Amino acid sequence: MTLLVTGCAGFIGSNFVHTALAASDETLVNLDKLTYAGNLANLASFQQDPRHVFVQGDIGDRALVERLLSEHQPRAVLNFAAESHVDRSIHGPGDFIQTNVVGTFQLLEAVRGYWQTLAPVPREAFRFVHVSTDEVYGTLGPTDPPFAETKAYEPNSPYSASKAASDHLVRAWHHTYGLPVLTTNCSNNYGPYHFPEKLIPLVIHHALAGKPLPIYGDGQQVRDWLYVVDHCRAILRVLEAGRVGETYNIGGWNEKPNLEVVNTICQRLDAVRPRADGQSYTSQITFVKDRPGHDRRYAIDARKIERELGWKPLETFESGITKTIDWYLAHAQWVEDVTSGHYRQWVATQYG
Ligand code: NAD
Ligand code: DAU
Repeated sequence: MTLLVTGCAGFIGSNFVHTALAASDETLVNLDKLTYAGNLANLASFQQDPRHVFVQGDIGDRALVERLLSEHQPRAVLNFAAESHVDRSIHGPGDFIQTNVVGTFQLLEAVRGYWQTLAPVPREAFRFVHVSTDEVYGTLGPTDPPFAETKAYEPNSPYSASKAASDHLVRAWHHTYGLPVLTTNCSNNYGPYHFPEKLIPLVIHHALAGKPLPIYGDGQQVRDWLYVVDHCRAILRVLEAGRVGETYNIGGWNEKPNLEVVNTICQRLDAVRPRADGQSYTSQITFVKDRPGHDRRYAIDARKIERELGWKPLETFESGITKTIDWYLAHAQWVEDVTSGHYRQWVATQYG
């Protein structure tokens, strides 16, 4: 059996490869363009493993996707590939439209063509899983209930608008053509292999490098954090047992204001890697200009996936953040490799 997975040299996708191959011997054909966010070092342990087949390419290259589908005959396609960073979408939305909207359209068309050629039994069993985000729902006030699957889409950033558009395409390919799709909308992930442009890995990296820890605005924006392996386990459950045509919200019941997250990281680092001058890493916290259109609060109501598929997060925020910090401390070379070159240019553009 084979799965075609896209974007699995990135943060969540590479964790998915690790999680899936720890649990099964199914072959994963990984189609990834290797943008700045794609990194084969995340998959170094599978270099000689025949269960992981890497193909460099674009989900928008329909001829390539058609060839991979016909060659490998996957039982499912899981789409992780995307431009994923909100701040980059503000500086340059074009790539987000191209990959997240046009790319998803091309991928859906290639998959639809393949699915229609399948014999009745594999055709019935086939699944297209689209990995999406809670940001499509917009922003919450302090006392609003968390996002349920029934919440109307109200995306506010170029990134979330492009993901919302891709979700709508996936939905339409089900309703119009009958393609057996499932969509997941997950909250903020953190864990190993997280690119240090995102809050948690950026703060760990900057703290250890003696650089400012940039907090946008007042730091009271709330995110609902989920350890990445719990997200990958949820995607596997949705693939195996999700109801076709449904969407599943995935979250950790871990709402935290950004400043609290940064303080927690600083306290852990103070304990395990104290600064030479004896001061706390919190002294590096610096309030900077807010993100334009910054969503104030995200929170996920994960009761549907818990009830229907029996999924629950295994990590608390405390256990997950400890594992994450320990991973970054043990992988200084990985951080060094991904923060050279283009990364430095990005930090200069974003933080002046
Ligand atoms: P990431 O930016 O770390 O990785 C994206 C991967 O996609 C990279 O390997 C990149 O090379 C690849 N890619 C980009 N454009 C491509 C294209 N046109 N063709 C093929 N490959 C391409 O992103 P991530 O954080 O791992 O997110 C993965 C998915 O999960 C995305 O769809 C994202 O919207 C969604 N998501 C992310 C989070 C989060 O907290 N990071 C939460 C919920 C949902
Ligand atoms: O909610 C799911 C989404 O989570 C995913 O769809 C996105 O792909 C993923 O990048 C993430 O989006 P966020 O914008 O929430 O994540 P980010 O790590 O960029 O920021 C988290 C919070 O921290 C947000 O409120 C902005 C703030 N922040 C971020 C950075 C990079 C700062 O205060 N300072 C920073 O330097």
